[in-house]
This record gives sequence, structure tokens and C-alpha cells, in this order.
Amino acid sequence: MLVGKHILLIIGGGIAAFKSLDLIRRLRERGAVVTPVLTRAGEEFVTPLSVSALAGNKVFRDLFDLGDEAEMGHIQLSRVADLVVVAPATADLMAKMASGLANDLASTLLLATDTPVLIAPAMNVRMWEHAATQRNLATLYGDNVATVGPNEGDMACGEFGPGRMAEPLEIVAAIEARLTDGPLKGKRVLVTSGPTHEPIDPVRYIANRSSGAQGAAIGRALAALGAEVVFVTGPAEVAAPDGVQVINVQTAQQMLEAVQSALPVDAGVFAAAVADWRVTSATDRKLKKSKDGLPALEFAENPDILKTISQMETGRPDLVVGFAAETNDVIDNATAKRIRKGCDWIVANDVSPETGIMGGSENAVTLISDAGAEEWPRMGKDRVASKLAERIAEVLT
Ligand code: CTP
Repeated sequence: MLVGKHILLIIGGGIAAFKSLDLIRRLRERGAVVTPVLTRAGEEFVTPLSVSALAGNKVFRDLFDLGDEAEMGHIQLSRVADLVVVAPATADLMAKMASGLANDLASTLLLATDTPVLIAPAMNVRMWEHAATQRNLATLYGDNVATVGPNEGDMACGEFGPGRMAEPLEIVAAIEARLTDGPLKGKRVLVTSGPTHEPIDPVRYIANRSSGAQGAAIGRALAALGAEVVFVTGPAEVAAPDGVQVINVQTAQQMLEAVQSALPVDAGVFAAAVADWRVTSATDRKLKKSKDGLPALEFAENPDILKTISQMETGRPDLVVGFAAETNDVIDNATAKRIRKGCDWIVANDVSPETGIMGGSENAVTLISDAGAEEWPRMGKDRVASKLAERIAEVLT
């Protein structure tokens, strides 16, 4: 898959730099040519010798290395690759990229390059969540920089949360997806998927039966056509697709925030089964049975994510696709829903229990647009996803 592809790999200074050594090995196993660039801080974590030995290539380190300039100038170095990959992308490197600084070899290459850039952020969870980093991330998305990770988990610094660099194989999948020459290459598409969980107390929540299967299949199908996919998912049964940027959330409100921070996108596919209500009386302590009777739960309506995005006045995606899960008058209800929410297409399906669609492997949908209703025969969810991705590609290209 990567045979003959040229990757310029910039290794930033973070503890995750050790994973870049494995990344180099995996890329070379797949036939890629890797030209490594090591930042000064990166050298504190991995040695130039190990990077160079694994890459089977010279490691570039210094902007003012005359030998390097004679062999290959930094402008040329930034242009030889099919893809520039930054792993780990530290908060500092992201800030430099977002503000266009060029004060060392890595940042100069990133400013001078005309090839696509993929970054694998890695940093402490507070640094990742800091408003400055999130602002930089939004700027980088606007500059068409693609991301893989960060993942959530235990961190070297002892904290827990998002900030861990994606695993080498996840980065390889993202690289393969970026280098896929499909019709959606260069397009950024957002997919929401899975159910949301709305807490009642620390151990109980309101949920629904969505498995996330259709959303995951759509994410996979869009990536297979070359799209950069941002996959915002609630706690689903089905694993998220490889090679996409996964943002895990629990509640509808978190899903809306994640969706808004992922903008701008060329298209949004809203396949999540978002809970319509949340419990405003949710407690920090577990509710106990009491002689005073049953607990009285108070509800508030959740934000409608599809409607919010469909009705954006500036920065609305070119194509917004919603889903309508109905049990009766499917076409009429879904047609009205398309107008009410303001999306371009609605994928309508009948989720009556006798259809076996909710949680099953097949789906029978009708695609509703301003051109009318188009009924698709019952088929596997993967096939529905591919057909939908192909239709999206027709509109975006
Ligand atoms: N949706 C959303 N945010 C919500 C609720 C729904 O983004 N808070 C999206 C879903 O992802 C789906 C579409 O809206 O794409 C349809 O959701 P659905 O729950 O079927 O529609 P409702 O507005 O809840 O209408 P109804 O109550 O008639 O089912």
C-alpha cells in the first residue's frame, strides 16, 4: 500500500518520540521511504543514530547545516515527500505551525511545504485541553492539516485523559488513508455515531439501543474514498474505524462541543442516536432507595446537533446529512424532519422492532433530498455506507 511513497517524518520532543521508532519500522515494512527530521527537543528522547539506522536514511536536524544545504536545501526537503507526518506533534510544534513560525528546521519545513501534513499530537492532558492548544488545532484544521489521535488513557506524567499519541499502527492507517487516491481526497468529513449516555447519577444513565454499526461503516467508507474523517462517537458497541480521527464523548452536550471544535468540514454525516433529553437533576452521589418514595427526575431538552450545524449562518458544511429513525409514516416524517432541521439530505429508516434494523447488520433506507425520496433496497450496513459515501463524493467533487 505504501510502496514507493515518500514520508517526511518530523519527530518532536515528547516522551512519545520512542513510538516514532516503531512507526519508522512499520512504514518501511510497507515499502515507504522515510526521511526523518529530528527536533532539538526530539533528540532528548531518541538518538539521531537510532532514527537514522531504522530509517536507513540520513536524519536531518539543523536548519543551518551547510552540508545538508549543499546536498538538499530545506525547501527541496519539504517538497520531496508525498506526505509530511509530525509524530509526536508537541503543543509547541502545533503552536509554531498555527502561527507560521519558522525558527528551526522542523517549523521551516512545515511552513515551506506544499504537500499535505498529518500530525499525531502528544502532550499532557491539560496542555491538550488548554484553550490555546484548542485554538491552534482549529487554525490547523482550517489550514487543511489532518490529525490522528490523541488517544485517551494513562499518560507518562501520571495523569489520565486525551493526550497520548496514537499508536504506530493507527498512524500508519491514517497515513494510508491520506495517501489513498480516492474521489474524496483533500475533503474533510465529520461523522457522528453511536448512542449518547445521559447521567442520572455516577453509576446510572439514560441510553438507547444504537450499536454505532452504521456510523462506523460510514466512517470507514468515507476514509476508503480518501476523505479525512473526524469521527465523533458516543459509547458504541462497535469499534471505531481505523485511520480516522476518533473523538470519544458520553453526552449530547459533549458531542455538540466536539462537533463544533472539529469544524470546518466539507460535509457532516449525523448518524448518532443522540438522546433528546438529559437529566438536570443528575447527582454527584449515587441515588439511594428511601422511604420517601421514588426519585423525581427532572429533564431538559438536549441541543439538537444536526439542526445547530444545518442552520449555521457562516461556516456551514457544504453538505449536511441527517438520519431519521422512524417507526411509522417513515417518508412523511423524514421529509418533514429534513425541512425542520434544515439539513440537505435525510437517510430515513424504519426501526420498528420487526425490521431487526436497530442493532442488526442490515438496513433498508430511503434517501430524501430536495429532489424527492429515493428508496434503496435492503442491504448490509457496509453497503449502505459505501453507497452513501459514493453519493457524498459526487456532490463534493
Ligand atoms: N440529532 C442530533 N441531535 C439531537 C437529536 C438528533 O444531531 N439532539 C440528529 C440525529 O443524529 C439524526 C437526526 O438528528 O441525524 C434525527 O434524529 P431523531 O432523534 O430521529 O429526530 P428528532 O428531532 O428527535 O425527531 P423525533 O422526536 O420526531 O424522533
